[in-house]
Amino acid sequence: MTMQGKSRYAETYAAARDDAQAFWGEAAKAIDWFKAPTTTFDPTKGVFGHWFPDGELNTCWNAVDRHVASRGNQTALIYDSPVTGTQRRMSYKELQSDVEALGAVLQDHGVAKGDRVIVYMPMILEAVVAMLACARIGAVHSVVFGGFAAKELATRIEDAKPKLILAASCGIEPSRVVAYKPLLDEAIRLSAVKPDSVLVFQRPQALAELTAGRDHDWAQAVAAAKAAGKKAPCVPVKATDPLYVLYTSGTTGKPKGVVRDNGGYCVALAWSMRGLYDIRPGEVFWTASDVGWVVGHSYIVYGPLINGSTSVVYEGKPVGTPDPGAFWRVIQETGAKALFTAPTALRAIKKEDPKAEYLKKYDLSGFRALFLAGERADPDTVKWAEDILKVPVIDHWWQTETGWAIAGNPTGLGMLPVKHGSPTVPMPGYDVRIVDEGGHEVAADKMGSIVIKLPLPPGCLPTLWEADDRFRESYLTAFPGYYNTSDAGFVDKDGYLFIMGRTDDIINVAGHRLSTGGMEEVLSSHPDVAECAVIGIKDSLKGEQPCGFVVLKAGVDRSPLDVEKEIVGLVRDKIGPVAAFKIAITVNRLPKTRSGKILRGTMKKIADGDSWSMPATIDDPAVLDEIAASLKSKGIAG
Ligand code: COA
Ligand code: AMP
Repeated sequence: MTMQGKSRYAETYAAARDDAQAFWGEAAKAIDWFKAPTTTFDPTKGVFGHWFPDGELNTCWNAVDRHVASRGNQTALIYDSPVTGTQRRMSYKELQSDVEALGAVLQDHGVAKGDRVIVYMPMILEAVVAMLACARIGAVHSVVFGGFAAKELATRIEDAKPKLILAASCGIEPSRVVAYKPLLDEAIRLSAVKPDSVLVFQRPQALAELTAGRDHDWAQAVAAAKAAGKKAPCVPVKATDPLYVLYTSGTTGKPKGVVRDNGGYCVALAWSMRGLYDIRPGEVFWTASDVGWVVGHSYIVYGPLINGSTSVVYEGKPVGTPDPGAFWRVIQETGAKALFTAPTALRAIKKEDPKAEYLKKYDLSGFRALFLAGERADPDTVKWAEDILKVPVIDHWWQTETGWAIAGNPTGLGMLPVKHGSPTVPMPGYDVRIVDEGGHEVAADKMGSIVIKLPLPPGCLPTLWEADDRFRESYLTAFPGYYNTSDAGFVDKDGYLFIMGRTDDIINVAGHRLSTGGMEEVLSSHPDVAECAVIGIKDSLKGEQPCGFVVLKAGVDRSPLDVEKEIVGLVRDKIGPVAAFKIAITVNRLPKTRSGKILRGTMKKIADGDSWSMPATIDDPAVLDEIAASLKSKGIAG
């Protein structure tokens, strides 16, 4: 490990800050362009500027085709699926063949450059092929995570207006097979916008019924395209054209369509694979996430492939598939040099195998580093992982919006000393500041809102899908000239960042980002509920878990337990199992300020057992005792 002083971090960060044009212009040389950009950044274009405005490229070319000549027989993807008992390797040549055939099928269905395609798939190789086929023909993919319910899928269909949907017949959870097709059919029924066609990848665990005229069998269509020698070429797109839209939780039930452009993203990912993760072409990189999340987009699919590395597609869990040695087995069998996962996965392993007995069964001698993100990496978990793995454990901080790490420990530049609880330092291009409510910078070690001075570096969102105004309102207006991360934290005297929590109503459950506002909308829709509040309470495994308080309408004469059960079911039905909403509590009233604002922050402190003080503006202090008693009655510490 290179220690501070030997690291090239400081000079690299300074180079990007002092001459961003030169820094990112140089980084852009790692990418193949149909038309190399003559301008690196144009501040007059888009909402806050555009990177590489006159460049033209194709992201699929960069991820697949350009590697075929030099490393065509190298494995591009390793599929490891303990839930189906399958392993499969796909070379760059095979990947190209599948992607160009599927691209041709999409074109036969009338999908053209700029059209949106929703991808509703589990962690199988075809999901990666689907994303790349869209990128190849210039279509904009929007992947929807399989743990969302039909209504969430419908919202995304309505917003993205896809010409076509690519889906698998099912996903496989350790406890059950999740049939996707009924969810998809229901989503299309609920949506005012209907796709022209649906291509279904049939998995033997649950075959889908195809709707005549609209649905088509994926494998048959691809086989026919291959037999006819159909191959979609890589369509040149502008660097600023969208590669994908990925929906993420906002403060309301309506998710935000984060737009990712092609050029800046390719450049940023290529830089990060070397500078941050220190992975070389030909090496195996494993991100244990899901293609439905940004981490999956950037580091299961695009980053490793653009880098000419081998990526692992893992359809399983850290525990229970079949045991807490699953991750160590995959590292040994794939030869992964680094693993990127969420701290919650480590906590799950630690809970079942605290002494890491399972680790002893495997040879991890080639393993170099563990990267964690998605939620705060608690020092206990980081320390445990360091002790058992004996490699650097690196926390890094980012958001769906940024597409790659805002802060991290740049192993490729020479690691900086690790401070537990900190994701280390800002990555090149991110000018991170801590400000008070008035937007004034605060001193070292003082908590504040974390903001990033505009422009954001390449790879970050240029806007929200067809919603420039919402983009400005959500991120750019609170602190003019800065992007508001909605995270709070501080920078210490050594320049290390500490991310302490959100400033909005987003909670983080098992590394999944969820809106409590969105859940409150669902709770309020129950006919017996007069008002409600959802908060995130501490959970030793998942970091946080949602907890909903409901006040029933006057005159409702039903068992509160029955209503609570219905509410839990309703959230599962409307948002999906991923919301992990299991606690509903009926109360007589909610604590409010005299102006009627619900005191969610104080409720959370009571539930978490943290110290709290009586808000000066509270309407009736006795309500807080009632809340504490209700929590106790449900076995929640208080
Ligand atoms: N499709 C359908 N359902 C899904 C799903 C998917 N792709 N993914 C999760 N679910 C369901 C689960 O089956 C579970 O349903 P249940 O309520 O019937 O049990 C529910 O959603 C919650 O899932 P999960 O958060 O995975 O909890 P868990 O208790 O099954 O597992 C962990 C706990 C810690 C093992 C798991 O959360 C985990 O692996 N976390 C890592 C998260 C991660 O990688 N995040 C990406 C950010 S980098
Ligand atoms: P998502 O958009 O789903 O990636 O979630 C982004 C949010 O997750 C951030 O705004 C943070 O609140 C949280 N987050 C992600 N990574 C970290 C980290 N390393 N430390 C603390 N919080 C994190």
